[in-house]
Amino acid sequence: MSASASTIIVGDKNVELPIKTGTIGPDVVDIGKLYAQTGKFTFDPGFTSTASCESKITYIDGDEGVLLYRGYPIEQLAENGDFLETAYLMLFGELPSSAQKADFDYRVTRHTMVHDQMNRFFQGFRRDAHPMAVMVACVGALSAFYHDSTDISDESQRMIASLRMIAKMPTLAAMAYKYTIGQPFVYPKNDLDYTSNFLRMCFAVPCEEYVVNPIYARALDKIFILHADHEQNASTSTVRLAGSSGANPFACIAAGIACLWGPAHGGANEAALKMLMEIGHPENVQKYVAKAKDKNDPFRLMGFGHRVYKNYDPRARIMQKTTHEVLNELGIKDDLLEVAVQLEKIALEDEYFIEKKLYPNIDFYSGITLKALGFPTSMFTVLFALARTVGWIAQWAEMIEDPSQKIGRPRQLYIGPDRRDYTPIGQRS
Ligand code: CMC
Repeated sequence: MSASASTIIVGDKNVELPIKTGTIGPDVVDIGKLYAQTGKFTFDPGFTSTASCESKITYIDGDEGVLLYRGYPIEQLAENGDFLETAYLMLFGELPSSAQKADFDYRVTRHTMVHDQMNRFFQGFRRDAHPMAVMVACVGALSAFYHDSTDISDESQRMIASLRMIAKMPTLAAMAYKYTIGQPFVYPKNDLDYTSNFLRMCFAVPCEEYVVNPIYARALDKIFILHADHEQNASTSTVRLAGSSGANPFACIAAGIACLWGPAHGGANEAALKMLMEIGHPENVQKYVAKAKDKNDPFRLMGFGHRVYKNYDPRARIMQKTTHEVLNELGIKDDLLEVAVQLEKIALEDEYFIEKKLYPNIDFYSGITLKALGFPTSMFTVLFALARTVGWIAQWAEMIEDPSQKIGRPRQLYIGPDRRDYTPIGQRS
C-alpha cells in the first residue's frame, strides 16, 4: 500500500492528510488525526464516504458490477467450486489444494453436531417464532456451550470457533425450521457434503429415506457462494464493531444475524418474494412500478437498488440464470418468475430506475429458487445468515489479527439542548 498526502483547509488551518492507496478501488484520505489537528470531526451518516478498515478479503466495484473474493471473480467461484472451497478461500486467503480441501471438509463435517442440550433451548420458543429470532438467540447461546473456544487471544481457539460456527449454522438453521413445523430434529450425516447435509436436515423425516436431489444441492450451494461475503455491509460492520470490544465470536455473529434480519439488508429476499406474490400477475406490474416511483407512497421495489452497485449486481445475473435452470430442470412452472421477468424488464426501461441506477440485486431472484427448493419465505434470511457466516468469521478474524485494531467508537454531531439547570418538579410549567 503506497501513501501520498492531500491538503485540506479547515477553518483557517491548512491540514495535511495522508492518502492511502489499495490494490484496486478508490484511494482513501486518512482522517485519523483530523480531530487532534483541527478540533473537528467528519460527518458521514450511513458511512457513504467512509472506509472503516483495511481488508484483503472482498472487493466490489459497484459501477462496473464486479465482485471478487480474495481476487477471484464471483462468477468463476460459483461456476467451478463449492461453498466450502469458498469458505477456505475466505479464511486462509488462497484456494486449497486437494489435500487441504479434503482436510478442511473433514474438520467442518466433524463439528456439525450441536451440544445436545441445545435441543432443550429450542423448546423454550413458541412454534410460530420467526426462525431469525431463534437464530439470533441460539447462535449467541453457543458461547454458553463452547467455553473452550471463546478466548480470542488464542489463535487455535479462534480457528476452532470459526470451524464450529461454519459447521453448526446449517444444523441450527435446520433445527429452527423443523421446530416451526413441528417435526423432529434430524441429526447431521457425515457422509454427505455440506449443502446436501443441510437439505437432509431440513427435509428428511424419520419415517422414510431421504435422497438428496443433486440439482437442489448444487443450486443451493451456489446461492451460499453468492452470499458468502460482501465487504463492509451493515451486518459485517456490526460483527466487526461488536468484535472490536473483544466480545467472543459467537456473540459477534449473533449481532451480525440481528442486523441482517432487517428488510433493507438480508430480509429483502423474503420481502421480494412477498412483493412478487402480492403483484401476482404480469399485468399488475405497471401499477406496482408506478407505486414505487410515487414519492408519497412508501412502497419500494424489493430486490431492486443497492448502496454500492450502481450497475447490475453480478450476483443477480448468476442468480437469474440459476433460477431459470432450476425451474427448467425440475419442470416447475412458477407464475412468480413471469412476474419477476416482466417487472425487471419494465423497471430497467423506466426513466426513474435508469436515472437512479436501480438494478435488480441478488434478492430479486433468489426467493423464487428457494421457494422451488421447498423453503418457506421465513427461512430465506436464515439461509443468507448461514452463508454470510463465512464472511463474518473471515472479517472478524482479519480484524482481530490486525495490530492497529482498536475498539470502534464513532463520534456525533450533538443537536440536543445546551447545558441547562435542573428545575424541581413543583416549579416546572
Ligand atoms: N424502489 C424504488 N425506489 C428506490 C428503491 C427501490 N427499491 N431503492 C432506492 N430507491 C430510490 C430512493 O427512493 C431514492 O430516491 P430519491 O433520491 O428521489 O430520494 C434513491 O433511489 C436512492 O435510494 P436510497 O435509499 O437513498 O439509497 P441507499 O443506498 O440508502 O439504499 C437500499 C439502498 C438497498 C437500502 C435501497 O435501494 C432499498 O431499499 N432497496 C430495496 C431493499 C433491497 O432490495 N435490499 C437488498 C439489498 S441487497 C442485499 C444485501 O446486501 O443485504
